[in-house]
Amino acid sequence: MTTPLISITDVHKTYGRGPNRFEALRGVSLEINAGESIAIIGKSGSGKSTLMHLLALLDAPTDGNIALEGVDTSRLRGGALNGTRNKTFGFVFQQFFLTPNTSVLDNVVLPLKIAGVRRGERKRRGLAALEQLDLADKARNKSTNLSGGQKQRTVIARALVNNPRVIFADEPTGNLDTVTGGVVEDILFSLNREHGITLIVVTHDEDLAARCDRRIHIRDGVILPEEVAA
Ligand SMILES: Nc1ncnc2c1ncn2[C@@H]1O[C@H](COP(=O)(O)OP(=O)(O)OP(=O)(O)O)[C@@H](O)[C@H]1O
Ligand SMILES: [Mg+2]
Repeated sequence: MTTPLISITDVHKTYGRGPNRFEALRGVSLEINAGESIAIIGKSGSGKSTLMHLLALLDAPTDGNIALEGVDTSRLRGGALNGTRNKTFGFVFQQFFLTPNTSVLDNVVLPLKIAGVRRGERKRRGLAALEQLDLADKARNKSTNLSGGQKQRTVIARALVNNPRVIFADEPTGNLDTVTGGVVEDILFSLNREHGITLIVVTHDEDLAARCDRRIHIRDGVILPEEVAA
């Protein structure tokens, strides 16, 4: 058996203290293999984003274990943690998180800048990623002036620029109309199928969830027994 890409065991996440204490995840275990596409679904407040943030090492669990390729991640701190996250993961969120008044290209190469890649190489790889998303002609535009679909494609280019092994997407089509959302979905699934990038997507959209290899249902901080995909 191969080692799962990400493995979490009996993970708990508690927010706040005293009377404000709230247990958002209550003993969650999950194994994700390289190359899978996984939908995380559940009602608002059920713990989907919390789970995704833990899987992406954006936040630490209150209790339980998270392993990346069999290696316990709790020992990763500071620079090592940021480095691992930056080179392994790409992020696509509903609220784009583009830097306003900055060019599309500069937004896309941000992960490379963080990784210390030199300027010429950044530009080359940034333009290649924009080319892939059919946005090369917008490289010099301000990100603020893009349409919603173009913004989300820019975000995907930024997520791709570091050749990540995993793309995390939290409601990636939530702010888009149906047609544009469909285009963004197709791009994400082609990255999964053609480039073997593991896709972990939080969604309310049943059709999007149905396209994934696996569907993880969360209710009140607990994962329900998993249906096996046909
Ligand atoms: N920083 C925080 N402090 C306190 N409570 C929090 C915090 N973040 C999340 N919560 C609570 O934890 C629970 C799970 O939140 P989470 O964001 O994971 O839900 P979700 O399933 O992603 O919901 P949605 O579909 O609305 O995005 C919610 O009840 C939320 O209010
Ligand atoms: Mg959420």
